[in-house]
Amino acid sequence: MDIHTLIQTTAKKVEQRLDELLPREDVEPSATLHSAMRYSIFAGGKRIRPLLCLESAKACGGSEQIALDAACALETLHTYTLIHDDLPCMDNDDLRRGKPTNHKVFGEGMAVLAGDALLTEAFAMLARVPGNERYGVHDYVGELARLTGSLFLVGGQALDLEGEGRPLSLQEIRSIHMGKTAALIEASVRLGAMSAACSAQQLKLLSTYARNLGLAFQLIDDILDVTSTPEVLGKSVGKDVKAQKATYCAMVGLEEARDEARNRTAAAREALCEFPVPARDVLQSIADYLLQREF
Ligand code: IPE
Ligand code: IPE
Ligand code: MG
Ligand code: MG
Ligand code: MG
Repeated sequence: MDIHTLIQTTAKKVEQRLDELLPREDVEPSATLHSAMRYSIFAGGKRIRPLLCLESAKACGGSEQIALDAACALETLHTYTLIHDDLPCMDNDDLRRGKPTNHKVFGEGMAVLAGDALLTEAFAMLARVPGNERYGVHDYVGELARLTGSLFLVGGQALDLEGEGRPLSLQEIRSIHMGKTAALIEASVRLGAMSAACSAQQLKLLSTYARNLGLAFQLIDDILDVTSTPEVLGKSVGKDVKAQKATYCAMVGLEEARDEARNRTAAAREALCEFPVPARDVLQSIADYLLQREF
């Protein structure tokens, strides 16, 4: 299967399962809240984190079926981060996934709550994933909480916010990227692998793959913010300069940022060398695809 077909078929499976797992629009006590949650989840999105979760499970000999609720949990948690990231008190964005941002449609209060509820739902989804001889639900939950809490994802968002309007070192920019972006990508591959009862060595190699992939992913996100258009990207552009964010591109220029993204992608590919060939091929193709992506 080529990578584009794989992305499309995976997105469809994940969206079908998300539709089953999330409360319907008319469910009480607040139909508005459930509508707001579904609005951002089903607005689109590449569904990269679910893809990484499912493919990592397969690379470790596991099944898509067993990892599917973990994949849904990752997309649900990711969507919460986007809703909150777009709020006026954060990046103040009007466009996301080709549509008006959640707070533009539902108001700021409801957008905060939709994010809160999606974060909570994510853990409920993850708790449905069957345990195995190596890992149980408490391991899954601990792992997601660790990588998305104040030490990683939320911590990265805090550093990003505190860094606005002041010069940052490359080291500080890397810490922001590791936290706000790479950590959830790492959680995606780790949870997929753990659902497949992976070995400690497999988990280590996949984590190195994911951290490098995550750094490349945020570098490309920052590059696209400079070079793309809202029509192609589905979100506003030029916003990092406007918010005076010290991005890698702003510091070293587009070409060097692209070089660094290439190096990180190569390091991600390299980490998988010890995996059996067919299992690693897909994960390596995903890394190549994400380097070349235009949205
Ligand atoms: C955007 O993530 C936020 C970042 C971490 C850069 P994606 O580029 O994966 O956004 P969607 O899910 O496809 O909308
Ligand atoms: C967002 O980074 C990371 C998270 C949402 C955790 P950005 O602020 O660069 O993402 P976009 O460009 O708004 O998607
Ligand atoms: Mg942001
Ligand atoms: Mg943003
Ligand atoms: Mg961005």
